[in-house]
Amino acid sequence: MQDHFGHRISYLRISITDRCNERCLYCMPRELQEWLPHSEVLTYAELARLVQIAASLGVTKIRVTGGEPLTRRNVLEFFRELSLIESITDIGISTNGTLLAKRSESGQTVAESLAELRVKHLNVSLDTLDQETYAMITGRDALPETLRGLEAGKCAGFAQIRLNSVLIRGKNEEGLGDLVRFAREQGFLLRFIELMPVTTADVLSDENFFPIAEARRNLEAEFGPLVSEPDFHTNGPALYYRFKDHSQRIGFIGAMTNLHFCDSCNKLRLTCDGKLRPCLGSHLEFDIKEPLRAGASDDELRRLFLDVVDRKPQQHDFRFNYQPGRKMVAIGG
Ligand code: 5AD
Ligand code: SF4
Repeated sequence: MQDHFGHRISYLRISITDRCNERCLYCMPRELQEWLPHSEVLTYAELARLVQIAASLGVTKIRVTGGEPLTRRNVLEFFRELSLIESITDIGISTNGTLLAKRSESGQTVAESLAELRVKHLNVSLDTLDQETYAMITGRDALPETLRGLEAGKCAGFAQIRLNSVLIRGKNEEGLGDLVRFAREQGFLLRFIELMPVTTADVLSDENFFPIAEARRNLEAEFGPLVSEPDFHTNGPALYYRFKDHSQRIGFIGAMTNLHFCDSCNKLRLTCDGKLRPCLGSHLEFDIKEPLRAGASDDELRRLFLDVVDRKPQQHDFRFNYQPGRKMVAIGG
């Protein structure tokens, strides 16, 4: 699948739930939260069928997100179904990490089960290593659980665990060096993400926004020069740097300040209530649940995917006073 701007679509991010056991201030609306009723959320069978369709159109990478995907009941069954779709070569999950160390009846941790089910990429949100700051940002005092989750991820043998840290001025600003040292010790790939106006436009105030260029300068002052690695890529838009006198790599996701952010976009998103979204930073979304439930054929659903790709914008609208229309927690990062 390819759009008019040369974006080749090989990557589908699916949000499997809008529910979460945390309340990150950049992700959840401040007002009372109403979850979607279960009937509005796609079943595992429906999700798996859409993944098959996407796979038949050239999608090879899937990332499962939420909300917190690991809060959904019997989630490992869904990963089992995904693991059976052979042309999906790359399965990832984005999680807050709090449930990775949980053990099932068999005694296995969730992290071990995921690794066994072909999950290759484990991305864990971690904005700070300070327990109080963690509680302030996420609304839950769950840093110890998250750290245990990361440990469980390491024990489960994931080849690479990535840490995602959203930059927030005055909140985690002082602790970036600690995150770098922690990632270095543990062998995690750390990425800093600029705050985006995805749930509320309010959170993206001049007061909160902390650009990646400044984070880079602060880290250089502490750890020495960072050298750009233009040829190193993961699946997303992160730009990678390496310390001049250390092999550690750091990623910077400059959604707001990197004007080429969208050039290499390869994604579509599927929300848990069955909307296909061609771009995180655009209001465009197309319902696929209704045709799916009304008995559409595989060909009809394929056409819908192609129509959505056709409408993929050249770039996101975040820089133009974007007013979000949907909670981040229901889009899935
Ligand atoms: N701005 C930037 N990143 C965000 N995430 C969630 N909301 C925002 C936002 N408003 C990130 C989380 C998580 C990933 C799924 O999305 O840190 O790592
Ligand atoms: Fe939950 Fe992740 Fe949103 Fe935080 S960013 S509230 S952990 S879904």
